[in-house]
Amino acid sequence: MSRLTQDLAAGLDRLTKLVLSQPIDKTADPKVTVRPVFLRGGRMYQLERFRDNKAFQENLDGESLLRRFEGELDGRYRQALLVTETESAQYSLNAKGGYKRHGGAAAVPRPAAAEGNDRQKQYLIPEGEAVPALVDLGVFTRDFRIVRAKYDKYRQINRFLELIDQAFREDGREELTVLDFGCGKSYLTFILYWYFAVKQGRKVKIIGYDLKADVVEHCNAVAEKYGYEGLRFVRADVSRDVLYDQRVDMVVTLHACDTATDYALRYAVEKGADYIFSVPCCQHEINLQMKKGGELDVFLRHGIVRERMAALLTDEIRTLVLEDMGYQVDVIEFVDLDNSPKNLMLRARRSGKRSDKGRALAREIAARYGFTQTLLELTK
Ligand SMILES: C[S@@+](CC[C@H](N)C(=O)[O-])C[C@H]1O[C@@H](n2cnc3c(N)ncnc32)[C@H](O)[C@@H]1O
Repeated sequence: MSRLTQDLAAGLDRLTKLVLSQPIDKTADPKVTVRPVFLRGGRMYQLERFRDNKAFQENLDGESLLRRFEGELDGRYRQALLVTETESAQYSLNAKGGYKRHGGAAAVPRPAAAEGNDRQKQYLIPEGEAVPALVDLGVFTRDFRIVRAKYDKYRQINRFLELIDQAFREDGREELTVLDFGCGKSYLTFILYWYFAVKQGRKVKIIGYDLKADVVEHCNAVAEKYGYEGLRFVRADVSRDVLYDQRVDMVVTLHACDTATDYALRYAVEKGADYIFSVPCCQHEINLQMKKGGELDVFLRHGIVRERMAALLTDEIRTLVLEDMGYQVDVIEFVDLDNSPKNLMLRARRSGKRSDKGRALAREIAARYGFTQTLLELTK
């Protein structure tokens, strides 16, 4: 076993990157890198080979990586760089085919500002993961790098997926029906399908609903292109149209406009969906109607304060309704504020315990301040 293989094996748990360059012959790929990726909650290693300006990736567990390294790569590159969380060393191939190590400098500590990169390593869909549909949707470049302008959305959908994955890992069901209301360009919808159906091999049916016919048409074309049989998109107004009438496991919304979120929540409740993950946005309804009526008047004096308070009140009323309808609900910040100001997620799990108390309180507030709220009205 060469010095390099030994050091790689010893530092595998702390590996940050390995770069192999200057191959000894033309049959080897000009450059190979290895970096850790986090998949299905576990640490894996992405082996990336570069040839003819293209990158080819494979994810391997630690043991397979070491076997592959020893069998195919060790001794075929003149230069190697091995970086772990604690040190960084260069290796050069000597005449006997072994590696000489140069230095062993402490690795440069990652600055606080690089936290985003740390975060990225833990994404379920890391940059570089070969998800071709994300290329068609304009989130990834052709070599699976994130399109800069889409970085915020990419973080949102990864985080959204992470939260859902957490819930389903504990749940363990193999078949899954998910509806996405106000799916728009459907980055989230595709990610969910890819992760659960393609990557995990579960039997998944996902339907995305949106008002926009052109977007729906494009999303259906992309789903068809990749043979995603369980994924389809339907043009519908979720406040009026008849939607899927079979059993539904989960309803998701990501920034569905204003009261579209309420219709999605009402649908989820009526269908008895076990999970709801909803990130509301544009909560205008209460803001447009609210009048003075009591202690909350202090929040009505300045436009921006009024707007934010009305948005929070809207989401809190939604939470009260969901709790009454038999859901256990958390309100969480699903991404940082600097990523999106619309960063609250209502995360609900069906418990079956019903009540009227929450709606009674919400109705009292609505009557006192002179507004109606769609979900409250829909669940009378
Ligand atoms: C801000 S976009 C969000 C899209 C996507 N979920 C995302 O996060 O990228 C909101 C989407 O909701 C859709 N929408 C709004 N009201 C709707 C309704 N009543 N029925 C169906 N779709 C609706 C809009 O057409 C739009 O595509």
